[in-house]
Amino acid sequence: MQSSFTPKIACIGAGNVGATAAQYCLEMELGNVVLTDIVEGLPQGKALDMTEAGPIRNYSVTCTGTNDYSDIAGADVVIVTAGLPRKPGMTRLDLLEKNGNIIAGICGHIKQHAPNAVVIIVTNPLDVMVYLAYKKLEFPANRVMGMAGCLDSARMRAFVAMELNVSMKNVDTMVLGSHGDTMVPLPQYTTVSGIPITKLLPQDKIDAIIARTRDGGGEIVRLLKTGSAFYAPAAGAARMAQAVLRNERQLLPCAALLQGEYGLDGLFVGVPCILGSNGIEEIVELELSQTERDALNHSAAEVKEGIDGLKQIGLL
Ligand SMILES: NC(=O)c1ccc[n+]([C@@H]2O[C@H](COP(=O)([O-])OP(=O)(O)OC[C@H]3O[C@@H](n4cnc5c(N)ncnc54)[C@H](O)[C@@H]3O)[C@@H](O)[C@H]2O)c1
Repeated sequence: MQSSFTPKIACIGAGNVGATAAQYCLEMELGNVVLTDIVEGLPQGKALDMTEAGPIRNYSVTCTGTNDYSDIAGADVVIVTAGLPRKPGMTRLDLLEKNGNIIAGICGHIKQHAPNAVVIIVTNPLDVMVYLAYKKLEFPANRVMGMAGCLDSARMRAFVAMELNVSMKNVDTMVLGSHGDTMVPLPQYTTVSGIPITKLLPQDKIDAIIARTRDGGGEIVRLLKTGSAFYAPAAGAARMAQAVLRNERQLLPCAALLQGEYGLDGLFVGVPCILGSNGIEEIVELELSQTERDALNHSAAEVKEGIDGLKQIGLL
């Protein structure tokens, strides 16, 4: 990460997740934000609006909107949210091709203008897009990561707190695996002020929380009818940026390149990571039950299928 007096954060994609991530970064005064999109006027308009909120929300960092990638020059952290959601009639391969091309193009710009940045990918399908970004950026693995586990574990924390009627702040949890139906929520590592939820809730309630966590994105899509979740996803990305920019060494679940950890090699999957100024400073290996290990392998196999899809369409 490049050091500078006020850090610089580039948010690429000024849609729902990107603009909200920019807003959180400003509110947390993590640094000056450059909001980038291909749509003319969109990042400029949102950036100006967010800057004008500064005097009321009491931040002095700035937000600039641009369609010119050279404006991300020297960014310390880049958050990538550019991409399309899956539309009706679109196959998984269609989405891979569309978003894969977007990510590949953006990585060329990041490589050119922000070669020292820590890059946080948010675009779906997450674990496959972060792998593609890693290949295209050719940055060290510690500086490329995906945001999904922060979101999935935040959802699980919220559901546990709702069920027990306790503060969400007291709940900690860990969700491994890919961002999707095959994610692996870990009740044995879910606690309320240190007390495992297995001691506080019956198994059927825990199972229901796990199922709701897995369906967390779908539940919001069904409610919204058009569009998908963005407040919590953006909060997850900003949380990761905070850990990096403030060198917090926070233990957060992130999609990280596995090189033998958890018996997996050469793919990005959600695992507990210590995040600091070097990006992913450590991957923490938890002891898993056989069922959890099988579930993680199943999740990894799905990611591998996505990577094979990228090869099939010539993006790798
Ligand atoms: N990882 C997660 O947990 C998670 C959670 C929520 C959403 N997502 C994903 O994040 C992505 C964005 O979601 P959203 O709700 O913000 O969508 P959105 O449609 O609101 O915004 C996407 C933006 O990307 C822009 N864009 C497209 N191509 C671009 C390019 N080449 N350069 C710059 N900008 C470009 C579009 O113009 C648009 O403004 C989607 O892929 C979505 O599936 C991931």
